[in-house]
Amino acid sequence: MALQLNSGGATLALIKPDAFGAGHANDIVQLTLKAGFTVHSQRTMQLTPELAEEFYAEHKGKHFFPILVDFMTSGPLCAMKLGKPGAVKAWRDLIGPTNSNVARDTKPESIRAMYGTDGTKNATHGSANDGDASRELDFFFPDPAATPTGKQAAADAA
Ligand code: TYD
Repeated sequence: MALQLNSGGATLALIKPDAFGAGHANDIVQLTLKAGFTVHSQRTMQLTPELAEEFYAEHKGKHFFPILVDFMTSGPLCAMKLGKPGAVKAWRDLIGPTNSNVARDTKPESIRAMYGTDGTKNATHGSANDGDASRELDFFFPDPAATPTGKQAAADAA
């Protein structure tokens, strides 16, 4: 699978099933735009267990993995490709610490503090570094020319 080039200006953001299902997606997008991000791509989908396990493969075997997969497949989520210089760090700064309880103690203005519940139901995801951002953007927004379907679609359009 061809990875998208990412020079540090883009990151993958997810509005996870808890925040999406509670109707917070619009508020989160507004905060995102206010913080200077551009939403380059957006899609809503529900992950299968297979896709959730693939997305979080680095955590396979950890005690929280089954709970994480259950949560991530519990309803629709919204994936966004966000652009801004230094997008990876800027978005992680905006969403705050992983655990929403910790976020409320240490960064109450963060998105995870405001819209998350605990260490699993934490409202949003942000890529950890530029390499992860490239892989994760490719996961949710595959380059149409790099997939058989996309190649076929491109051929159809020609
Ligand atoms: P991690 O990559 O450590 O955090 P982040 O999302 O901030 O990059 O963990 C991935 C997700 O796994 C995290 O968003 C929520 C879940 N998780 C748990 O459910 N329990 C835990 O103890 C940890 C560390 C993470």
